[in-house]
Amino acid sequence: MKTKLTIFLASISIVFSHSIAQTKAKNGMVVSTSSIASDVGVDILKKGGNAVDAAVATAFALAVTHPSAGNIGGGGFMVFMNAEGNVTTFDFREKAPLKATNDMYLDEEGNLIRNENHLSIKAIGVPGTVAGLYKAHQKYGSLSWADLVQPAVDLASKGFTMNWTLYGPAERFRERQPDSFMGDYFADSQGELVQPGETWTQSALGQTLAAIRDKGHDGFYKGDVAKKIASYMKKNGGLITKQDLAKYEAIEREPLKGTYKDYEIYSMPPPSSGGVALIEMMNLMELADFEELEFNSTKYVHFVAEAMRRAFADRAEHLGDPDFNPEMPVNRLLSKDHAKNRFGEIDMQRASISDSSRFGQLYDGNSTTHFSVMDKNGNAVSLTYTLEYGYGSRLGSEELGFIFNNEMGDFNPVPGVTTSRGQIGTKPNLIEPEKRMLSSMTPTIVAKDGKPYLVIGSPGGRTIINTVFQTVLNVLEFDMEIHRAIEVMKIHHQWLPDRIIYERDMLSPDTRKALEAMGHTLSDRSRLGVLMGIRYDAENGIMVGASDSSSGEGKASGY
Ligand code: GLY
Repeated sequence: MKTKLTIFLASISIVFSHSIAQTKAKNGMVVSTSSIASDVGVDILKKGGNAVDAAVATAFALAVTHPSAGNIGGGGFMVFMNAEGNVTTFDFREKAPLKATNDMYLDEEGNLIRNENHLSIKAIGVPGTVAGLYKAHQKYGSLSWADLVQPAVDLASKGFTMNWTLYGPAERFRERQPDSFMGDYFADSQGELVQPGETWTQSALGQTLAAIRDKGHDGFYKGDVAKKIASYMKKNGGLITKQDLAKYEAIEREPLKGTYKDYEIYSMPPPSSGGVALIEMMNLMELADFEELEFNSTKYVHFVAEAMRRAFADRAEHLGDPDFNPEMPVNRLLSKDHAKNRFGEIDMQRASISDSSRFGQLYDGNSTTHFSVMDKNGNAVSLTYTLEYGYGSRLGSEELGFIFNNEMGDFNPVPGVTTSRGQIGTKPNLIEPEKRMLSSMTPTIVAKDGKPYLVIGSPGGRTIINTVFQTVLNVLEFDMEIHRAIEVMKIHHQWLPDRIIYERDMLSPDTRKALEAMGHTLSDRSRLGVLMGIRYDAENGIMVGASDSSSGEGKASGY
């Protein structure tokens, strides 16, 4: 009894609060879009695991509890900063299969075959997630690999409670695609849809995860699982072979580093465009006079949109897989001089015009997921991974139980063809065998006094870059608390199409009219971004975590 009371008192003294807005804790924090996955990560921290261990366990748990984006059939990026401020990144972006060609989505007249690059078996890239998590664990993990995968095996094999967030898509897939992999995905052993409140088990996924638990990287890329993936592809006209899988390797890369006033910003280098664009925009912000640019004022929205327009123009022109584009001018784009030049082009009274005769891209998946982790020693992980569309290609093998990505849609599909509606045809991101497609994922860690201070990221296709950028700015410039920085009004501009998207009901009609009078075109969206962040209060040794309220099942879990 005494022991129980002591444990209870200890726990309330450590977890200061847990509200919808934010969670405060001293010993560790995981913020993800699934409360179950966040708790899995925190359990690992409680067992003595470090931030990388917790990230691995959380990622595998999300593959079970948040299957629209959590995955083993997709890819992503991890930024890791240890308590001493040393930073590294892991690139586990999907790759084009060896048989891919730059005209693989075109008909005989050279036109793009509708949906071929987004919703067909050929839209699947060679998955990278298992390789990335394994590599990060091999280098920086402390607990055993099996102990980190086991919670996901249990969630899949023993099941968890079906929630309304999953049930909506479950009903839609059943209605629209009966007799398909997705039509049966949420069904029980009798073939009936599992209802909210009932236990949903995924036995095939449990077996695939058990192979990964037992054999690590090779449990996915070699042996039985690889054989089943390759035979599924062959049977259904896909391109991925055993050789593609056996050759896949995650890559540890140097992070991109920028500064904003006294802060250091670390983010993902190409093949993500996220870090380059984020740092470019923060450099531009550093030149602004925030006495003049009050948060959410017309001038503020105008300036932020103009910064976005320029960063996205640079993104379209220059960025792709660095291993195929050795000449990319990343250092120039990140330089303070480049920001000065760009700053000089901005007219504070008028919207610029995006030159639609050059580049642009309209199509974009927005089902990605981000989580942030901090452990008791102050090590931090920022991890974003994706299947591209919600539930990716919506294809999978019943024997394996997981969903394949449709990430090939992130390549430029038609060489040389760029349209004002927004399709890009520029070279850096054209399809080539074994190339990684350009991404917008922006897992980011900001350091203050050389130590992790802000861990942040979001899903949302190209809106990711802009929602992360505005959240970072809200914390660093406007000193907002993390939950407020995440929730307040955000906009998105991506050069082409040439318009500002704003969050409905969050921008005043007067501001909108004033922006239109300056030459901007505006349209609304219900929400932008699903941000998951941690801010570290070093003075008091407290981690403050917040999960975006637009995430139905999200949670900042701390202890
Ligand atoms: N598939 C979304 C991204 O990588 O940006």
